[in-house]
Amino acid sequence: MKVGICTGGGDCPGLNSIIRAAVRHSAHYDDLELWGIKNSFNGLMSSPYEVWKLDQESVSGILMRGGTILGTTNAGNPFSLKNPGGGPVQNKSQQVVDAYKKLGLDAVIVIGGDGTQGIAYELAKLGMNVVGVPKTIDNDLASTDQTVGFDTAVQVASEAIARIQTTAESHERIMVIEVMGRNAGHIALHSGLASGAHIILLPEIPFSYESILKKIEIRRQRKKRFSVVVVAEGAFPAGGNEVFKTSAGTKNLGGIGHYLAEELYQRSGIETRVTVLGHTQRGGEPSHVDRIIGTAYGVKALDLVLQKKFGTIIAMQNGKLSEIKYEDVAGKFRPIPDDDMFLNTAKGIGICLGD
Ligand code: F6P
Repeated sequence: MKVGICTGGGDCPGLNSIIRAAVRHSAHYDDLELWGIKNSFNGLMSSPYEVWKLDQESVSGILMRGGTILGTTNAGNPFSLKNPGGGPVQNKSQQVVDAYKKLGLDAVIVIGGDGTQGIAYELAKLGMNVVGVPKTIDNDLASTDQTVGFDTAVQVASEAIARIQTTAESHERIMVIEVMGRNAGHIALHSGLASGAHIILLPEIPFSYESILKKIEIRRQRKKRFSVVVVAEGAFPAGGNEVFKTSAGTKNLGGIGHYLAEELYQRSGIETRVTVLGHTQRGGEPSHVDRIIGTAYGVKALDLVLQKKFGTIIAMQNGKLSEIKYEDVAGKFRPIPDDDMFLNTAKGIGICLGD
């Protein structure tokens, strides 16, 4: 068999552990080759094709390396490819499937978040044999309890917020820390819990300024004259909207931290500062958890290919890996559920959730 493997969408720590595990596992089978595809599906749309055989040496020493040795992009949807010179988007999906056939690939392992998996699902409908591996720091894929990358993002954010606690206390300030996560609050909730945040604002719970200021005032009455607020980039005030920023030609969620800080300062008069953690949450060495689960996902992905269970995406549920059909998860998203254990934990210890 000749199996392609690619990483798509935003990168995250732990991608290399998935690639490495699939290649290591392939060594147990004769006549099985793994081929890397450059920058998501772009390697199948370029001329010449950007693909290369992954031998055991090519994955040596990458377990602890951040990023992805295959490269990635979140601007490479073959169904609506942006024209670099402007003009209408192009549909190059058939070109991708033709390249897949021309190269003699039998299947492709697609490592990606919801955007990339949506593309994989559509390519599967055009005849590509696909097995999906869920990854994203946001942890918002419907199919799985824990995506590769989430644990490291939480670790990075937790460490940063913990550092901010001490300077917040020295200056008696309100410190607002904006974390990533798109429209799900998993990173904010987990990092806030891990670092002793006093207020955590999530996209799942529209917040009120009154509730936040009440918490800050209660703390001040207890002689705690500083407060640490973790805000997810997708959070928004009740009756208001999400905040987007356009930077270098790209519009993304972001900016709620500054917006919130200004409001809190205007309403309270307390000195306030903002830290936006941004892409630090996506870079650098993966945590041991992401290396372990990434390795398990990589082995499982190749197993599914060998079993010819195509059109499936791996799911981690209750600590076990299984596979789910793409059609059962397509278009679904996993926000924090109302009965989430960690949400209840945060409420249980008196963290203000802005409601
Ligand atoms: O989906 C991962 C993520 O890091 C989000 O948390 C964030 O909103 C987005 O990607 C940022 O994308 P980009 O890398 O294109 O700026």
